[in-house]
Amino acid sequence: MNKAYEWRDAPQADFAVLGDPVNHSLSPRMHQAAYESLHMRHKYVALRVPVNELEEALEFLTKKAYRGVNLTLPLKETGARWAKRPDDFVRRVGSANSLNFLDGSAINTDAPGFIDTLPSLGLWPPTPVLLLGAGGAARALSVALEDAGHRLKIYNRTPDRAKKMIADLGLKAELMKEPNPEDVGLVLNTTSAAISDEAVPVQWYRANKKAIAYDISYGLEMTPFLFQAGLAGLKVVDGLEMLVAQGARSFEWWLGTAAPFDVMRQAVR
Ligand code: ATR
Repeated sequence: MNKAYEWRDAPQADFAVLGDPVNHSLSPRMHQAAYESLHMRHKYVALRVPVNELEEALEFLTKKAYRGVNLTLPLKETGARWAKRPDDFVRRVGSANSLNFLDGSAINTDAPGFIDTLPSLGLWPPTPVLLLGAGGAARALSVALEDAGHRLKIYNRTPDRAKKMIADLGLKAELMKEPNPEDVGLVLNTTSAAISDEAVPVQWYRANKKAIAYDISYGLEMTPFLFQAGLAGLKVVDGLEMLVAQGARSFEWWLGTAAPFDVMRQAVR
């Protein structure tokens, strides 16, 4: 666990990750290692911000001369609404994970960061994808996957929510009644089922053994989703590489210089 401050006790720093809870975040370690390797004197900290205090916290940090922040759960949607200059993607999906206080701009580096990780997994050229979930993470990743040319099937425990997501975002995706992974190259879990230590009931016996099971969460333990996929003989991937990719993109957006990708990866592995 990292030290996380309450936002009213924020120390003097340049960047921060805001969330609630946020003490599990690996971002401070990753960004601080990047600054040190490039002899930059910036400081990056973790701050706990309840969602109903986000606006107040953002004004406070701007006045304290912070340059920008990353947002994690459950703040990405409120952050997107707060930004004075959200980019087109943030406006479309309604979720931002990187804010720049100098000009009020906001971007989402989770989605392109996730797409960055696909070629090294052999998931390029585009392959059909079964996407599980219909929350904030699913919204951002479904748009990014379709924009990159992937064909989507979407399953959510509450089907109406997936139906609404497909309509709201204008996706071409097929709404699935069952989590059937037949004929897809990637089974992507964006749900928060692992938080309650639950698996998503994927019909693994129908999966192609060459398909990849990808969970965008990360932690020390394997999620029930990845555990079951592994038992069914699929290759499993957690969200650590995506964390590094989104972190590198945020770093480059704020600082205008190439991110030391290997240093950042080493800091979290
Ligand atoms: P996020 O912003 O992280 O995507 P969210 O908006 O709370 O978080 O969405 C959580 C997603 O995980 C939803 O798709 C939710 O399904 P419901 O719409 O049916 O609630 C899904 N989810 C959470 N717990 C789950 C579980 N135990 N099994 C299956 N899906 C689950």
